[in-house]
Amino acid sequence: MNIVAIMNQKGGIGKTMTAASIAYILGEEHGKKVLVADADQQGNISMLYDRYEPEGIGMSELLERNIKTMGGRYRTSDVVQATPHGNIDIIPANGYLMRTNMQLLLQEKEDQVMRFRAAMEEVEDAYDCCIVDCGLLMDMAVTNVLVAADIVVVPVKIGGFEISAINNMAEQLEDLRSINSGIRMKLLMTMRQKNQTSLQVERWLKEASGYGCFRTAVRRSIVAEKATMEGVPLPRFSKNGIVTQDYRKVVAELLEDMEG
Ligand SMILES: Nc1ncnc2c1ncn2[C@@H]1O[C@H](COP(=O)(O)OP(=O)(O)O)[C@@H](O)[C@H]1O
Ligand SMILES: [Mg+2]
Repeated sequence: MNIVAIMNQKGGIGKTMTAASIAYILGEEHGKKVLVADADQQGNISMLYDRYEPEGIGMSELLERNIKTMGGRYRTSDVVQATPHGNIDIIPANGYLMRTNMQLLLQEKEDQVMRFRAAMEEVEDAYDCCIVDCGLLMDMAVTNVLVAADIVVVPVKIGGFEISAINNMAEQLEDLRSINSGIRMKLLMTMRQKNQTSLQVERWLKEASGYGCFRTAVRRSIVAEKATMEGVPLPRFSKNGIVTQDYRKVVAELLEDMEG
């Protein structure tokens, strides 16, 4: 199972859009067995996959009481839920994840950043890939995810300070390398517009940044925002829209990457 984390410490840049679209295309169009994991207390991807429950169990239980590491009550399979889409399951999250983060910070147990990795080992053979939507803080939930991830997709939207956000991400992944030596980061330009600034940044990302970057840039379209407002994954809302087409290319690149 390949674990792909979608992360950048900025909000509103298309993390959830990217995670939900990649998961949908892999599951519904490529027939992969996909596990979506929600590591954002806002629970947005849980909402898109129709499994958001303010009081429900999910990521918090996994991180606080993982059975293997903690002698607790929940196995990974206990918190995994089916979605309306056959090949796609989800570990949802809700506002309780904020308290989970605090709990993990307060406990000084050695395994506190290893819990998601242990939880994923339990379902290693059941899925081809796990797509994780992260929140915008490098909190304990996200740190747990990055310790387990093979690839970190970093959406980049033009709007100022994106270069420092990218450098920050890279530094933080460097710090995690002692625990997760294989982790790779790949930039993905989102909400690209047809103007000089956009094209310049795109060129910089691909040619000068020194970081790996998807060849595909995801274009901006109002249709994407409508999908969010409707509360469904974009490729379901708009089968042939330009943003869906772009995400199909992103998935093709990702599959190249994962399957070598
Ligand atoms: N390619 C796109 N074109 C237009 N709007 C987009 C695009 N991608 C995302 N959006 C919109 O931008 C907003 C933030 O996206 P979201 O994925 O929720 O960001 P994040 O998870 O990083 O906070 C949402 O309203 C979403 O619909
Ligand atoms: Mg989000």
